[in-house]
Amino acid sequence: MKIVALSDALFCIPVDVHTADLFEGIWPIPGGVTLNAYLVKGEKTALIDLVQDRQDAPKQVEEALASIGADFGAVDYLILNHLEPDHTGWLRQFREKNPKAEIIATAKGINLVKSFYKIEAGLRAVKDGETLDLGGGKMLTFFETPNIHWPETMMTWESSTGTLFSCDAFGSFGVLEGRLFDDEFSQTELAAFENETLRYYANIVASFSSFVEKGIQKLSGLSIAYIAPSHGMVWRKDVAGIISRYLRYASYSKGSAEKEIALVWSSMYGNTKKGLDAVIAGIEREGVPYSLHRAPNDNVSYILADAFKSAGLVIAMPTYEYAMFPPMAYVIDIFRRKHIHHKTVLRIGSWGWSGGAQKEYDAAIAGLKWNSLAPFEWTGNPSPQDLAVLESRGRELAQAIKV
Ligand code: FEO
Repeated sequence: MKIVALSDALFCIPVDVHTADLFEGIWPIPGGVTLNAYLVKGEKTALIDLVQDRQDAPKQVEEALASIGADFGAVDYLILNHLEPDHTGWLRQFREKNPKAEIIATAKGINLVKSFYKIEAGLRAVKDGETLDLGGGKMLTFFETPNIHWPETMMTWESSTGTLFSCDAFGSFGVLEGRLFDDEFSQTELAAFENETLRYYANIVASFSSFVEKGIQKLSGLSIAYIAPSHGMVWRKDVAGIISRYLRYASYSKGSAEKEIALVWSSMYGNTKKGLDAVIAGIEREGVPYSLHRAPNDNVSYILADAFKSAGLVIAMPTYEYAMFPPMAYVIDIFRRKHIHHKTVLRIGSWGWSGGAQKEYDAAIAGLKWNSLAPFEWTGNPSPQDLAVLESRGRELAQAIKV
């Protein structure tokens, strides 16, 4: 692990994590993830967040600190913007290495320090707007940003360098492999990270978009030179760009999504797939971009990302045992949990001896605020007449998205 200077008194300790484990136990990270801790040195020293102990993090952080002549004992304050264990997992080990450092978090965060880690002493709860003077011209200000994405979350502001330690906000999946700042990546690489930033948002933050808007509004008076998240790159060249993208993502939750269509499909023996192909032909005739995911073959993490950003959805599934095809029922339940709202949606599918998927589907999407076009179902193999209707429905959906 190396340490990277943002200034002569402010450092980042980035840890590239490669693991077959799922992030939060649910989201795949084939490209890994970088976790960042930060060090701010005034007359006193503050360490901001820890990093998950997947690869002997305590030893790696210790070595990084040693490279600038510091050690755990030199830390006066440990600031925990957020208590999720990817940023706090070895807190008890830290406490053993440094019994005197004051652990700082919001009041809700301090409660989690007690319940997760059974630490009771040396804790300080800070309020929104409270400051911590490190001396030497280094002043930290804490801003409560609840539900971005846990209730106890705060961000920390260092005014002399204009650095916002933004916690999970503005972060992404993907490892940085030795680079840290946004201006160290090519446009192609940045585009790939943007996809992983969107997937991170859709998977982890999307349920809380209204809080993202409130948080960004609260911080809008700051003159930000660096956005330093707890995952992924530090933004210094295009600070406005990443803030703008986050506001755009938040707007997807309110219906201002991209003029694209995400098609999510399941098929048992190819009959629903034939219908889907006819819908695709209709969409292509209208020239609307689309993405295609099969459930359960594609992981729901990627389905979520495309569904979240797209104004239109196609849900294609057969009836299975008088109800929805089970993998699609799971996808729709995830849509409900992650607030995939305000979409224009076409649902199609075949059935054998009896329908039933549509009835369960209608109940499942009741709270999703979707504009549902007339669904279309057929028995068994779609007839030429069925395929003509399906192509027409695809065109109708695409036309609705284009306006
Ligand atoms: Fe990266 Fe919500 O923890």
